[in-house]
Amino acid sequence: MDNAVVEVKNIWKSYEIKRWGFKKQSFYALMDVSLAVFKGETVGVLGESGCGKTTLGKIILDLEKPDKGDVLWFGKDIKRLSKKEYRKFRAKIQAVFQDPYFSLNPRYKVADILLEPYFINIEKNKRRGLEKAEEVLSLVGLRKEVLNKYPHALSGGERQRVALARALMVSPSLIVLDEPTSALDTTLAGQILELLKDFKLKFHLSYLLISHSLPVIIYLSDWIVVMYLGRIVEVCKKDIFFKSVHHPYTLMLLNASPDPFSPKNLFSKKVRGEVASALFRPSGCEFHPRCEEREKFCSEKIPQLRKINDFHYISCFKR
Ligand SMILES: Nc1ncnc2c1ncn2[C@@H]1O[C@H](COP(=O)(O)OP(=O)(O)O)[C@@H](O)[C@H]1O
Ligand SMILES: [Mg+2]
Repeated sequence: MDNAVVEVKNIWKSYEIKRWGFKKQSFYALMDVSLAVFKGETVGVLGESGCGKTTLGKIILDLEKPDKGDVLWFGKDIKRLSKKEYRKFRAKIQAVFQDPYFSLNPRYKVADILLEPYFINIEKNKRRGLEKAEEVLSLVGLRKEVLNKYPHALSGGERQRVALARALMVSPSLIVLDEPTSALDTTLAGQILELLKDFKLKFHLSYLLISHSLPVIIYLSDWIVVMYLGRIVEVCKKDIFFKSVHHPYTLMLLNASPDPFSPKNLFSKKVRGEVASALFRPSGCEFHPRCEEREKFCSEKIPQLRKINDFHYISCFKR
């Protein structure tokens, strides 16, 4: 099989925080996280706020260094890339974040926002750069008049389209989408998701999609990776997602989600319990304090991700 576009292997990441009145404390935001994104595939990372999704995205983008573990780009450890290879890696991996207002430079006009990655990564030719800019703007459904506008003159949905256009300027191999629609209302979010799906099929793009929203993850992903408190608790191919047994945490998210695709009898329950904190990590299976199915041993031993079949992995003693 070909190399994955990107693969992370056994990533551990800790942070230190200082809380008022307490000594410095370190905690793990990611524990032993491994996953791979293949060409043309979307891997959706699902989990509640604070479970480590953004940290994982930043490590893949090489904006944060892991304590332990490797990031492989087409099979090669990014720590071992030559300068030239590293530049290519930085060009071919792009990101779209939740709030484009913060990720688009407010002092740049859209033309400059789009030309910047092109000049750095492709060539310093303004005429061809602008041609490409017009082409990607039309792909994201914007008219070329926006080239002369500043981000603040655009609506939220238009800004997110510009962020997407910027990512497309360099024909990326992978786009990390971190909550790409969370700041938008439902209609605009739907339009952005449709565009993303379109591009995925048209350009055979790979996405790492990060979201706390199950419907968003379901809509776009080929693989669904569920995280809880910095660990992967389930990996499931989307095609079998609604026909399979699940980790109790995934089941809880499914029950709480108003997802039109999910069977109706799953709607009844709500999310239970507090989101646990990585600072006060429960013993054993970290989900056990919120789990309806817990047994005594669930608080004593840490479950490992276990293969159910080629398309499904769960870390739970009860599955
Ligand atoms: N730079 C940082 N310093 C300290 N703690 C951080 C830092 N970045 C993230 N965290 C903490 O790490 C955990 C995971 O955060 P994050 O990756 O942003 O989660 P998510 O994107 O799933 O909401 C959270 O507890 C968060 O507060
Ligand atoms: Mg986040």
